[in-house]
Amino acid sequence: MLSYGDAKAKIARAVETLEGRELLQRVVEVIQDSFPHYSWTGIYMVRGDHLVLEAWKGPQATEHVVIPIGQGVCGAAAASGQTEVVDDVSQDPRYLMCFPGTRSEIVVPIKKGLQVLGEIDIDSDELAAFTDEDRRFLEEVAAMIADKVG
Ligand code: SME
Repeated sequence: MLSYGDAKAKIARAVETLEGRELLQRVVEVIQDSFPHYSWTGIYMVRGDHLVLEAWKGPQATEHVVIPIGQGVCGAAAASGQTEVVDDVSQDPRYLMCFPGTRSEIVVPIKKGLQVLGEIDIDSDELAAFTDEDRRFLEEVAAMIADKVG
C-alpha cells in the first residue's frame, strides 16, 4: 500500500514521460496497485455521446466497455461533470453492474474547464470504501492528466 502522496508522485512522473493510451494504462495501474480497498480501476474517455473504456486494471474485464452518457453512475458523472460517490451500489437505481462483488463505487470526471473529457471509475468490494481523501486524491489525479489526454 502506498500513501496518496507516493501515488501522486508516480503519476506525476508518468505524466512527464508517457502519452496517450500508455499514460492512461500506467495511471490505472498506479491507482489500482496503491490501495487495497480499490478492487477495479478504469478510465473511460468521452467519444461523441458515449464513454469508451480505454484502460483498466483489475481481476476481471467488464462487459461495459461502451456506456451512453447519461446511463449508469459513469454516465451520470459524465453528464453532470461532478464526482459521484456511491456508498452502497445496491441502493442506487442508476448503477450498472460490472462485477458481482462490487459494493461501492467512485467516478471522478476528467475535465478541461467545464468540458468532460473522460473519467476515472473505481469499484470496491467494501461498502462505503471511498472517503473524502480518496475523492481529493482522485480529483487531483484527474486534473494532473487532463492536459495530456484532451
Ligand atoms: N458501475 C458503472 C459501470 C462501469 S463498471 O463499474 C466497470 C456504472 O454504474 O456506470
